[in-house]
Amino acid sequence: MNFEGLEYKNTILHFGGKSVLEITQTFPTPFYLYSEEILEKRIESYYEAIKDHNIQLMYSVKANSNLSILKMIHKKGLGFDIVSGGELFRCLQIHVPGNQIIFSGVGKTEEEIEFALKNKILFFSIESQSELYLIEKIAKRLQVVAPINIRVNPDINPKTHPYISTGLKENKFGISADQFEDTIQTALTLKHIELCGFGYHIGSQITDLSSKIEALEKSKNFIKIFNKYKKLQFFDIGGGLGIQYKKEEKVPSPKDFIESILPYLPKGDLTILLEPGRSIIGPAGIYISKILYIKNNYGKLFYIVDGAMNDLIRPSLYNAYHEIIPIIEKQDLPQIVDIVGPICETSDFFAKNRLLPLMQENEFLAILSAGAYGFVMSSQYNSRPRPSEILIKKNHQVQIIREKETYFDLIKPEIKFLNE
Ligand code: LLP
Repeated sequence: MNFEGLEYKNTILHFGGKSVLEITQTFPTPFYLYSEEILEKRIESYYEAIKDHNIQLMYSVKANSNLSILKMIHKKGLGFDIVSGGELFRCLQIHVPGNQIIFSGVGKTEEEIEFALKNKILFFSIESQSELYLIEKIAKRLQVVAPINIRVNPDINPKTHPYISTGLKENKFGISADQFEDTIQTALTLKHIELCGFGYHIGSQITDLSSKIEALEKSKNFIKIFNKYKKLQFFDIGGGLGIQYKKEEKVPSPKDFIESILPYLPKGDLTILLEPGRSIIGPAGIYISKILYIKNNYGKLFYIVDGAMNDLIRPSLYNAYHEIIPIIEKQDLPQIVDIVGPICETSDFFAKNRLLPLMQENEFLAILSAGAYGFVMSSQYNSRPRPSEILIKKNHQVQIIREKETYFDLIKPEIKFLNE
């Protein structure tokens, strides 16, 4: 097994130093399982490479926003990249100071902007001139000055899934290169706006680093334009580093990534920001599910598990490949199977035509690389309460960090309307 922190010891799968089988004996499946040890190793891999440079990590909260996860990341000294008032609220719950938070997103509402201004965030990444005017209006009303960075759309192909490319000209994100200078000029005319810098985010799950370098090359011109008007304080090069999803896949580590871009980074008295999400928490989480039924229809084998697309939607939504392995190592002959959930639609699958050893009902499967964009994208579709989240601490203690939802959680926002 070449996945970080995962190994079979005497045929039992261990994750972050702990037997997964033992955890299934205490907690009912399905659940997400995270390892503090792996999370810290990922962060340290970034730190090793950035230590002598003025680079600040701003963890992208959207990847996994569980409060206990955020708290561990905050303790390691990272700032936060948020995209909604809800994410800001989460950061405030764990006492992140406003000046460690940046706010991205194409559709910030008036309410969200006001909330962020009141909490004195480091800056807004603005994505349109209309947004700039709205921030000016709100800042004026509150009698404050709003720090902003301009998010530019550099029109670069990150060579990833089309749904998660964000820096191509046909994507909704950022301000086009031809409006960059004009936006700087507009920002400078607004009294309640302080222009601090610019940045971009070209996409996610990027494993071919050439697009990262291309974006830095292209930025030289943006930097030149910016410097004509103001000293560049923040240059934000986004997130997007990919992680390993397949057994045979070799992907760059955070350290490899930083080392490969270092020669292309601008020098001088400025702070370079990075917004990693998946590459921090992705490998630090797995999703555990139990086989409820095994059936063979027309010669096709189905493992029907107790987890479903409402918990982990990436395979259904992006046709994403996640490695799936038994938590007790098997020598039985591999079979071609579909691993599916109980939801009433055919898109409810975790894997199609996958080679897996022959298994039995009531045995457990681990879905790997599920720490990022797993729980955060879950829903209650088919009135399924969301699963629990469990953490293996560094000292190998196991603790619950989110309870499984109850049936009552499903109806709580509706129940009071029954008698109207
Ligand atoms: N910064 C911005 C402005 C972003 O839009 C994103 C991700 C990130 C940072 C973090 O990117 P990361 O380092 O995690 O790649 N749900 C999809 C991924 C969507 C990513 C959207 N933006 C998935 O499951 O693959």
